[in-house]
Amino acid sequence: MNDMTPTQAVPVLPDAQTVTEVTHWTDYLFSFRVTRPASLRFRSGEFVMIGLMGDPDPKTGKAKPILRAYSIASPAWDDELEFYSIKVQDGPLTSRLQHIKPGDQIILRPKPVGTLVHDALLPGKRLWLFSTGTGIAPFASLLREPETWEAYDEVILTHTCREVAELEYGRRLIEGLREDELIGELIGDKLRYYPTTTREESPKTGRITDLLRRGEVQADLGIDTIGPETDRAMVCGSLGFNLEIKEILEGYGLEEGANSEPKHYVVEKAFVG
Ligand code: A2P
Repeated sequence: MNDMTPTQAVPVLPDAQTVTEVTHWTDYLFSFRVTRPASLRFRSGEFVMIGLMGDPDPKTGKAKPILRAYSIASPAWDDELEFYSIKVQDGPLTSRLQHIKPGDQIILRPKPVGTLVHDALLPGKRLWLFSTGTGIAPFASLLREPETWEAYDEVILTHTCREVAELEYGRRLIEGLREDELIGELIGDKLRYYPTTTREESPKTGRITDLLRRGEVQADLGIDTIGPETDRAMVCGSLGFNLEIKEILEGYGLEEGANSEPKHYVVEKAFVG
């Protein structure tokens, strides 16, 4: 094409970022990395709206973006942004998002928000990160954040999934953390990883909620008491899971915090694409 060729209108996405890497973990789970807008500042644990352009409206011919909330799974210091998603075959966004490849563009609205941040918790000794399914994403960010390791003596990540294959993203994350020279040194022996499955046998079978109520988690990890003097928690999973964990934490005397009023625990619903 030379300068004289009439240029076709190239569709440019608003707030476009370029996909750099895609990993398919199971038929229903994938993660991907995109370029990071130079101006984007966020706190590890926050989420942004991301998406793709929808099909043009047959009447108006105009297309609207389809956007969903996604926790940023990469830490605040990373050059790129990582996301972890389910694939829903008839989902408006993830039915298409699951097919992205390096070089493709996605829309990313650069306005990060969220409650799963250190600022929303009072100082404590032990941090619990309770997740189910893709709810592990904000913790993937926080676990790679040096502040997490500087602020706590012990960090316990629990991840409950239906099947063993769904634990793989988290297992690889933990492996990577321990192997990482810088973060690995900060972590030392502070990290406890507690994966459980509910619909397939694994070394620890059962919902984390039931295991906590039975005192099995505490026995496995050698923890005598959980209470507001020592313990802080962040919760990210399905609505039902979040409600049950909240009840359990309140039973230990922990109170829910917010950015404006830091307390003992914070909750966010895992987002569905
Ligand atoms: P279960 O298999 O017993 O329903 P989902 O894929 O439905 O989002 O669930 C992800 C994981 O979270 C599953 O292991 C599921 O267990 C578990 N889960 C769902 N609801 C709750 C809840 N209310 N409390 C504890 N775990 C839950």
